[in-house]
Amino acid sequence: TGQRAVLVHPTAQALARATAARLLLALADAQALRSPIHLAIAGGSVGTQVLAEVATSPLLENVDLSGLHVWWVDERFVPCGDPDRNEGQATEVLFGGLDIPAENVHRMPTSDHASDPDAAAADYATELTAFAAASPDRAELPASVGTPEFDVVLLGMGPDGHIASLFPGHGTVRITDRSVIGVSDSPKPPPRRISLTVPALTHARQVWVVAAGAAKADAVARALGGAEPDEVPAAAAAGRDVTLWLLDAEAAGR
Ligand code: 6PG
Repeated sequence: TGQRAVLVHPTAQALARATAARLLLALADAQALRSPIHLAIAGGSVGTQVLAEVATSPLLENVDLSGLHVWWVDERFVPCGDPDRNEGQATEVLFGGLDIPAENVHRMPTSDHASDPDAAAADYATELTAFAAASPDRAELPASVGTPEFDVVLLGMGPDGHIASLFPGHGTVRITDRSVIGVSDSPKPPPRRISLTVPALTHARQVWVVAAGAAKADAVARALGGAEPDEVPAAAAAGRDVTLWLLDAEAAGR
């Protein structure tokens, strides 16, 4: 596995701004080497703040948005247009203003389009597989877990240490035979969700966990202190090349 670094910014605002700049430079670097490139994003307030900073950054001119594919790491299984959808927040701050081709924005299915979270997960897995390029220099995933090799996966983390919709004590961090799962008993509402699995998330060059606020300090310390992923799912966050923990001072407090 690659390198891991923990970077601490004084405030949540500074964290969001620096992470946006870092993200745009990482995407520009990736585009110097390959095309298309793939970014996976999460919901949550910190992630949304990062996307808002991306939308207004002068560094945007370094990225060819027509060669960028955007995916979600998780989604709430609710109807199209529901304000609870993670994609709603991203659409508002990012896709409204930017020229990313609509067919490159891979939203997770809604409850209007799939009968249940498992069916939605299977549909998204099929879409991911269509973009799973063979990468001869890399260990391949089993065929059942086909996903593009994400250039960057941008994760938030809950105070309980959850990433995507993989929650503590649910055993879902141990699923390795699928790229996407349906969740029907999320402890955080809404209960029905869709989530990438650990093998899909970690089949990425870079995985970044972005967290702000004192409520996250305990989970940060436990994840970095070697907790079991079953107990603190964020402990499973790892990129093939780079794993970054991007924190504000409060989240880094422990
Ligand atoms: C969800 C949220 C959740 C969020 C984390 C971090 O689906 O319920 O998106 O997973 O990403 O709890 O959220 P904050 O960045 O708002 O702390």
